[in-house]
Amino acid sequence: MCIDSNCGRKEVDTKIDELLTKHKNQPGGVLNFFREYMKVYGNPPSRIINKAAVAFDREETEIEDLLYSCNILRHATPGVHRISICMGTTCYLRGAQQVLKAFCGELGVSPGETTADGQFYLEVVRCLGACDFGPSVMVDNEIHPRVSPDKVSSIIKSYS
Ligand code: FES
Repeated sequence: MCIDSNCGRKEVDTKIDELLTKHKNQPGGVLNFFREYMKVYGNPPSRIINKAAVAFDREETEIEDLLYSCNILRHATPGVHRISICMGTTCYLRGAQQVLKAFCGELGVSPGETTADGQFYLEVVRCLGACDFGPSVMVDNEIHPRVSPDKVSSIIKSYS
């Protein structure tokens, strides 16, 4: 079982570096980088904002202001229930992307957003420490093992 909270981080960092290189000297590069990043990973943590600030030669606060003013980054309202989808390497290889897609479809939100009724906040995380049971999803403090897209609806219903 992987209990390393950095599980899969190297692969993710490589992907992010590729994305930064792709958008670096392009018009609208900062916004396009974050749009593409958030489609997969949700709201960026501060280390990603820092990486982007270095790559685009901007201040971190300047980047955050830009993201908020363009409504790309939202001050997420915490939902009643927090759903964390593991996108660590093991879960990813076992189909976590499809599980995430199913949650987005059922809830009508993207990672980093809260449902309109305030019930669910959806996020993507790296390794929940339950790799042997992936794809793993955590709702509040409860781990759901071996989640497949067809189980998503009943998981959501059990918290409604
Ligand atoms: S990769 Fe470890 S729980 Fe998903």
